[in-house]
Amino acid sequence: MRILAIETSCDETGIAVVETRGSSATPKSLKVLANTLISQASLHAQFGGVFPALARREHAKNIMPLLIHALTEAGIAKKLKKSRVLTAKEGAAFAKIFHKEPELFATFKDTLLSLKIPAIDAVAVTSGPGLEPALWVGINTAEALGALWGVPVIPVNHMEGHIATALLELDPLKPKTYHLKPANYPALALLISGGHTELVLMPSKGKYKMLGQTRDDAVGEAFDKVARMLGLGYPGGPEISKLAEKVPHNQALAVPLPRPMLKSGDFDFSFSGLKTSVLYAIKKFETLTERDRELIAKDFEDSVTEVLVTKTIRAGKKYNVKEIILGGGVTANKEIRKVFTETVAREMPDTKLFIPSVLLSGDNGLMIAVAGLLRSKSQKHILANGTLKLAKSVSPTLEELRKRR
Ligand code: KG4
Ligand code: ZN
Repeated sequence: MRILAIETSCDETGIAVVETRGSSATPKSLKVLANTLISQASLHAQFGGVFPALARREHAKNIMPLLIHALTEAGIAKKLKKSRVLTAKEGAAFAKIFHKEPELFATFKDTLLSLKIPAIDAVAVTSGPGLEPALWVGINTAEALGALWGVPVIPVNHMEGHIATALLELDPLKPKTYHLKPANYPALALLISGGHTELVLMPSKGKYKMLGQTRDDAVGEAFDKVARMLGLGYPGGPEISKLAEKVPHNQALAVPLPRPMLKSGDFDFSFSGLKTSVLYAIKKFETLTERDRELIAKDFEDSVTEVLVTKTIRAGKKYNVKEIILGGGVTANKEIRKVFTETVAREMPDTKLFIPSVLLSGDNGLMIAVAGLLRSKSQKHILANGTLKLAKSVSPTLEELRKRR
C-alpha cells in the first residue's frame, strides 16, 4: 500500500509518500519515499505566533509545488505527453471543491493535470485540530487528488499523528525504513505542542480518554510567549532551550518561578500564570544581564518540565499504564526528554517510554501518513474540524462544514 499524506494544520506544509508491506491495518515496516516540508516559521516570527490568514495564504502558495516535489522525490511524477483536459462535469466538481480557493484551483490545474496518475492507493490528510483556514487548504487539495486519481481519502487527527510518530523506530540496516512498534495498553500519551497540552489515557487501540489538559496556554505557546518577553525569536522553544543550556550547574534564579498546579490533585495544567511570573521576574532587574536572561529561561524550562513529568508519572501510576508516549513539537526539548527518560526509568521501571525522534517531533507529513495507515478508514466525505478532539473522533462531514462556511 502506498499512501500520500498532507499536513497543513498550523505553519508547516508537509507532504509525505509512504509505502508499506503486509496488512495495512498493522503495518510492520514502512518505507518513506518522500517527506517534504516547507516551514513558514520565519514569516510568522514578526507576530510572535502563527497568524492564520498568512498561514492559509502560504499553504495555498506552496502546496502544489511541494506536492510535485514529493511525487518527484518518490519517483512517481511522470509527465503526460499532453496535459489532461477536464470535462465540463469534472471541471464543475473541482470548482465546487475549490470554490473558496480559485487560486489554488488554478495551480492545481497547472501542475496536476500534466501528470500521469501516480501509483498511490490513498490520500491521508489532517482534518483537525488546527487553524481552520489552514486545514482547508490541505483538505481541499486531498479531496481534489482523491477525485482526480480515483483513490480514497482518509481523515487524520493531527494529535493521533503525533502519537504514532513516537512509535516509529528507524531500521538500522535499511535506509528510510521504519518499524512501527506495537503499543501495549493501557498506555498514556502526553501531547505537548503549540496548541495543545493534553494528558490522554489510551485504554485500548484507537480509544482515548482525556485525563487533563491546559486551562489556558498550551506549553509550546508559553515557550513562544516567554521567548518573546526575553527578546528571543519564534518559535521560542528552541531559543529558550539554547539560552537555558548556558547556565552553569551551580547557579539558579534567586527566587524560583512557581510550579503551576503541581499539587492541584487533578491532571490539568496552567501556564498563563507562569508567563506572568516571568514578566515580574524580568521587571525585578534594573538592568537585565545576559546571565539573568539565561537564569530565567532555565527556571522557566525547569518549571514546565517538573509539572509535566510529575503529573504524567502520577497519572501513569494511577492507571497502571504499560507505556508512556510523548508527542508534539515540544518533545524536541532536550531537558524534557532527559528528565522524562530518567524519571520513568527510576519511578516506573516496568513502563516503556516512547519519545519521537527530534527530527520528527514537529509537524510533518510522515506523522499523518502513519496515523492514516493505522486508521485506514477512508470516507466518502472527509471528517474535518478545527477543534477535533482525540477522544471524540466523530466530527461533521466535509459537506456539512462547507455549507457552514
Ligand atoms: O507540534 P508542533 O510542531 O505544532 C503544533 O501542532 O502546534 O509544535 C510547535 C511548538 C512551538 O510552540 C515551539 O515553540 C515548540 O513546539 N517547540 C519547542 C521546542 N521545539 C519546538 N518547545 C520547547 N523546546 C523545544 N526545543
Ligand atoms: Zn503538531
